[in-house]
Amino acid sequence: MNTLLDGKKITIGTCYYPEHWPETMWQDDLERMKRTGIEVIRVGEFSWNLTEPVEGTYVYDFWDEFLDLCSRVEMKVIFCTPTATPPAWLTEKYPEVLNAKREGSLIYHGERCHVNHNNIVFRQKTELITEHLASHFGSHPSIIGWQIDNEINCETDEFYSESDDLAFRNWVQNKYESLDALNAAWGTRFWNQTYSSFAEVHIPRQTNHNVGNPHQNLDYRRFVSDSARSYIKLQSDIIRKYLKEGDFITTNGMFNLDNHSMNKESLDFFTYDSYPDFAFDEYYETRGARDLLDRNWSKNLSEVRSISEPFGIMEQQSGAGGWTTRMRMPTPRPGQIRLWTMQSIAHGAEYVSYFRWRTATVGTEIYWHGILDYSNRDNRRKREVEQVCSEVKKLSRICGSRYAAKVAVIKTWDNEWDAQCDNWHKMLEDISQKGIYAAATRSHTPLDYVFLGPETSAEDLGKYDLLIFPHAVVVTQMEAMILERYVKNGGRLLLGCRAGLKTSEGHITMDDLPGVFKQMAGCVVAEFTPEAPDEENIYVIKPGDNGQKFRMHAQGFFDQFEVTSETAQVKGVYDSTYIKDEPALVKNVYGEGRVYCFGSTFPEDTAAGLLKMLGVSNPYEQYLDLPEECELAVRTDGTYTWLFVLNYDKSEASLDIKEEMLDVLNGGSVHGTYKLPAYGVAVFEI
Ligand code: GAL
Repeated sequence: MNTLLDGKKITIGTCYYPEHWPETMWQDDLERMKRTGIEVIRVGEFSWNLTEPVEGTYVYDFWDEFLDLCSRVEMKVIFCTPTATPPAWLTEKYPEVLNAKREGSLIYHGERCHVNHNNIVFRQKTELITEHLASHFGSHPSIIGWQIDNEINCETDEFYSESDDLAFRNWVQNKYESLDALNAAWGTRFWNQTYSSFAEVHIPRQTNHNVGNPHQNLDYRRFVSDSARSYIKLQSDIIRKYLKEGDFITTNGMFNLDNHSMNKESLDFFTYDSYPDFAFDEYYETRGARDLLDRNWSKNLSEVRSISEPFGIMEQQSGAGGWTTRMRMPTPRPGQIRLWTMQSIAHGAEYVSYFRWRTATVGTEIYWHGILDYSNRDNRRKREVEQVCSEVKKLSRICGSRYAAKVAVIKTWDNEWDAQCDNWHKMLEDISQKGIYAAATRSHTPLDYVFLGPETSAEDLGKYDLLIFPHAVVVTQMEAMILERYVKNGGRLLLGCRAGLKTSEGHITMDDLPGVFKQMAGCVVAEFTPEAPDEENIYVIKPGDNGQKFRMHAQGFFDQFEVTSETAQVKGVYDSTYIKDEPALVKNVYGEGRVYCFGSTFPEDTAAGLLKMLGVSNPYEQYLDLPEECELAVRTDGTYTWLFVLNYDKSEASLDIKEEMLDVLNGGSVHGTYKLPAYGVAVFEI
């Protein structure tokens, strides 16, 4: 057990940059943090030059002095490897370490994350700086853990340098071994793309529409993920040699790579950077009447939970956000820092660290505000952090508990990446992922995400009453078998359109759809079509019922089913156009469980209707009624259950507590009407 997520208490920290401030401020900063209730700082992630100012010369005085001060004031430190910002001397002397754009031009020094993860020189320089830092500082008593790099693949997840080109060729050769296998997997007979030597194989490069070969693109996404993972592993293996008992290794941010595997192979736990204020950014794209805004971050936090439960928040927003070049977000309104912190905790965070102690006065991020403003005056935001620091003490008992969801959305990395490479698939995911999450949160139905992997067992899945695999486009026999077993054991599986369409190479199967799910589905797809742009909305209704019983919007795509098993029944049909009365929802009894095939996507109202129909909506209804604007997040340790109610709204919310419960933050028991102020949080214990 590491000393940070020890299952005993929730710890509050902040990100600190001693290199940005005169040394004369350090002690005062650290002491003020401690008085605020901050117990941990994260340092060093952008400071390579402080340790290696010129190639091969390693100096430690800066961090020695700072860490000794930390020991004196008893501040705990998460120390970082500084590899997200390589020095100018390095990129100038070895331009081959730089990343490149798809058309081949280099990405130069001046921002951050401008390198590639495959270049041999860069990997050697990484090994050296990591080895020097870990061997020198690993035993320092103030250090409690290490963060590797910073937000790997955050500024870009596309790499086209010559080193990546070479590495991709090797990756492909290792994977396929023979040219025949490669040509078959990438379907190169199509458009005469056949390779006659591995030397002809490249990373996806500039083409007429920059789309390239879809099977190659899917492999490219896997390759980028593998490159980042191996780069993190390289560092983790070195740090581990010097790690003191109880110290941990983590990395922060959730970007487009297989974080689950990375966490397992290299980290002790995962940390996420949570910036819900993005929802109020002037440039935020999807804001609309029904947008969940900052509440959407609960979806991200639920995905983080699938990687690591518990997890940490390495960067939690504490001020207005913005760069000099883009983004302009307002200051958190009174209550929002606390709300967003509790949002993280409700979803599984047991460490929350604010970004950052004081706002920078130089650089691109002079408008990315921390707890304190430039003037260093005590302010409202600091007082709110102080309040959080004292309140989390009342939440110690929830540490080590688990999120209590009975419904989960199934994902796989291959299927995610396929959606990124395939517009037909992406359109479906865009509708359904948003719709299912919105329906679940607005109906107060706790939801998990489960990424299927080789170690996922049907028995583990058995804790869920319902699994939804919205669009299982790329799916393997193995994955289908796990789900089949879950169903046979009594579980319920809901599949949306296009299930079983592709193999793991991204080839379309010639089998009847839903392909690998065919037997358990008890039906096949007889016909299918994307929605025609000149069509009125099409709905799914109960057969012969004119939409009285239910009427669910089928958006974007329509699978028409044909029942193939005696155990299957048509539960819904399309209501109009030439597909009127064609089966759209089929239920099959399979083993002890049920499979439901829905022929379309899951926009919010449809998802809400299905959750209700399947009896999983609003499972805590007997305990409390709460308005749609409030989120309900639930944690349990098996004996006690904690209901977190989070009010994201500008106005007060009124709850109806139906059974007497303990009010954890305010003390005492509550029953009946309960007023939750704007941006307020309540935690009830059952
Ligand atoms: C994070 C990053 C920080 C800082 C912050 C505000 O993504 O890790 O270093 O840049 O955003 O932009």
